[in-house]
Amino acid sequence: MNETTPIITKSFDVQAIRKDFPILDDLMPGGKRLTFLDTAASAQKPQVVIDAMSRVYGHEYANIHRGVYHLSQLATDHFEAARRKVQGFLGAKFDREIIFTRNATEAINLVATSWGHANLKAGDQIILSEMEHHANIVPWQLLRDQIGIELVVAPIDDDGVLILDAYQKCFTPKTKMVAMTHVSNALGTITPIADIIQTAHDHGALVLVDGSQAVPHMHVDVVALDADFYVFTGHKLYGPSGIGVLYGKEDLLNAMPPYQGGGEMIATVTFEKTTYADLPHKFEAGTPNIVGAIGLGAAIDYLDTIDRDAAHAHEMALLAYTVEQLTAMNDVRIYGTAPEKTGLVSFTIDAVHPHDVGTILDHDGIAVRAGHHCAQPVMDHFGVPATTRASFGLHSDFDDVDALVAGIKQVQEIFC
Ligand code: ALA
Repeated sequence: MNETTPIITKSFDVQAIRKDFPILDDLMPGGKRLTFLDTAASAQKPQVVIDAMSRVYGHEYANIHRGVYHLSQLATDHFEAARRKVQGFLGAKFDREIIFTRNATEAINLVATSWGHANLKAGDQIILSEMEHHANIVPWQLLRDQIGIELVVAPIDDDGVLILDAYQKCFTPKTKMVAMTHVSNALGTITPIADIIQTAHDHGALVLVDGSQAVPHMHVDVVALDADFYVFTGHKLYGPSGIGVLYGKEDLLNAMPPYQGGGEMIATVTFEKTTYADLPHKFEAGTPNIVGAIGLGAAIDYLDTIDRDAAHAHEMALLAYTVEQLTAMNDVRIYGTAPEKTGLVSFTIDAVHPHDVGTILDHDGIAVRAGHHCAQPVMDHFGVPATTRASFGLHSDFDDVDALVAGIKQVQEIFC
């Protein structure tokens, strides 16, 4: 540590954390306390993120990488500092391995399009898991329909755990890529991603990891994992929406053609020939989400102040308490009972549609997600059209769980 490195004191006190999120002070219709249990869909924003973005828009804003004047330089410095924060957050070797995108979906589309067209031919295979979010299915299906690759699906068991034997049997000499979630958004399952990557590499395949549901809950080190590509979205990490991240190993990104053309991503342009900018700008065509990236950097700074081991222990206590309460209730079924899970509970109540559950809970200020969670193959696995999903954030507490349990009892009184 040099003399200018700030000393960050890490702590975790859920009631203090709750004060960091202004929305938690707001009352919902009917004067109800907000019980926000939908962080897996999108996290609420701490005041420091809101302030950082407001400061840039109010006092430090200009377009970046272009201006010779003070404000443009300042905004550029903040934007590139945000990139270095993401680099540190993921443990990447170089900041040029961090590409800002709109979200995880765009990051996956970038790899499927750019890497896929440059490296795959008809008959090549990509392995996905049965519990992928649609964002890690549809881009590969588009590629399949364009060039004739095959998608191979590694199955899960009835706990929502990837069946590793079956995964290993998916490989053939034609397997070129594994595209796999780190944490299932519908079930909360944490996949053994290091082993998944090792197996893929043993078979000469690359791995793209969808870390959208992982980075808010655990420490990720892309170098230790040896991930080839790792993507996540900012809005689930307490940052703004409209900003996402693609991490890629430098040699892979260097060998890939641009995804989109335009300003920012070029070195020289004539009507005869264009040469491209170096990483990371080669993949950042057009004016980027400048303030979104800076907001994401502020979210990472915020997470840096939190004792994440203590936060994890709290989250696991909330999960255990919720599972215990819901398991004891008649006619309530939980989907996703993997031993390694994040703080997320997907459930159904017999004879009640999840949308009705969500709507009645909302009357008590309880926000949950109801639906297929953009993971219809998971719903198909369990033979349900939808579930209700409660997911925890840093600010979640035992009062939130008690409110959920009381709300479910009320649903049952109305319908059962
Ligand atoms: N992918 C987000 C979710 O799981 C929207 O709810």
